[in-house]
Amino acid sequence: MTLADELAAQLTTARARTLHLTDHDEPELVRQFDALMSPLVWDLAHIGQQEDLWLLRGGDGRRQGLLPASVEALYDAFTHPRAVRERLPLLPPVEARAFCGEVRGRVLDRLEHLGDTDDPFDFAMVVSHEQQHDETMLQALQLRSGPPLLGTGTPLPAGRPGVAGTSVLVPGGEFVLGVDAADEPFSLDNERPAHVVDVPSFRIGRVPVTNAEYARFVADGGYATQAWWTERGWAHRVSAGLDRPQFWDPDGTRTRFGVVEELPADEPVQHVTFFEAEAYAAWAGARLPTEVEWEKAAAWDPVAGRRRRFPWGSAEPTAALANLGGHALRPAAVGAYPAGASAYGVEQLIGDVWEWTSSPFRPWPGFRPMLYATYSAPFFNGDYRVLRGGSWAVGASIVRPSFRNWDHPIRRQIFSGLRLAWDA
Ligand SMILES: [Fe+2]
Repeated sequence: MTLADELAAQLTTARARTLHLTDHDEPELVRQFDALMSPLVWDLAHIGQQEDLWLLRGGDGRRQGLLPASVEALYDAFTHPRAVRERLPLLPPVEARAFCGEVRGRVLDRLEHLGDTDDPFDFAMVVSHEQQHDETMLQALQLRSGPPLLGTGTPLPAGRPGVAGTSVLVPGGEFVLGVDAADEPFSLDNERPAHVVDVPSFRIGRVPVTNAEYARFVADGGYATQAWWTERGWAHRVSAGLDRPQFWDPDGTRTRFGVVEELPADEPVQHVTFFEAEAYAAWAGARLPTEVEWEKAAAWDPVAGRRRRFPWGSAEPTAALANLGGHALRPAAVGAYPAGASAYGVEQLIGDVWEWTSSPFRPWPGFRPMLYATYSAPFFNGDYRVLRGGSWAVGASIVRPSFRNWDHPIRRQIFSGLRLAWDA
């Protein structure tokens, strides 16, 4: 397969997902399910608008795109916060779909004639953007009330008993943090450059924290005991009235994409804020890993003395290695992916749930912004915490051990869970 064919396939996979997630009646697409999220029809046209900007106009917004400038401006994420997008004169769904299709046709033409001066990275960046919005649309759909639209999801491998609550030692020493374009041509700006860091010994959870483990924290009065919380975390817990993870019902069930079901004991907990993750870790006599520890546990091969492309090695992700792609609509039980373990024996690092780390979002030394220069840089040094590893909702082609996500510490509509760590 040529690089152009590979990129075309990735674009097509992402688009199939986008169309599936927006294959609903018009009223579902234009309404805002929650003030935190855009109406789905905004995401749909924004995906096309960004693709038009980056791939048909080289990122130059002064050049005329396929939409009139006044319409294009509606899809600028920086000008229009999510809460107000429902009230904008957005393209109706049928026009948004036609626009996205028109852009895509021209992009695939360009890809067929990819020349030496074209940077394939820009196409990969657009794939990443679309896949990230597909995950955002799943967050919106999870917040929606009403009869289920998506079903219950595709089957997943079973978990293994005995792995929850266990940990592995990662001996101290140097490793290579981050990646360079030479190794990972499609890595985004904030993942680069590769550089050596020394990490003291630590222990890290073999698998993410499960619903059953988290339920013990809730039952033990974790939400009523200030000692487990930081000052900021406690203030948020009180003001937001948090007393259990989002979408857990008071009777021990949970609501997932409109389906009420028994809380699965051995599935990683999701929909917790950074503050809840921190409090759980304190209650459990542990802490959250730093993102540097997380990446070492995920990518470093101490015997070979080099990074692996993925925790399990160089093979691309498959359904036997990780839960990715969004079709399962939930994380897999812990222990479901022994073949996906890292060199240290840490499992389920990629897929299932985004894992909160204790790290604020900062540039690596030597950071240089990519073409889409406002992707990372405006968010550095703000009140964000880094999440690692991707969730079940992440597209398989866009996640790597170096991939960095970030969000406000109070957010939990995202598919966020945690893994514990300890000093060793
Ligand atoms: Fe976007």
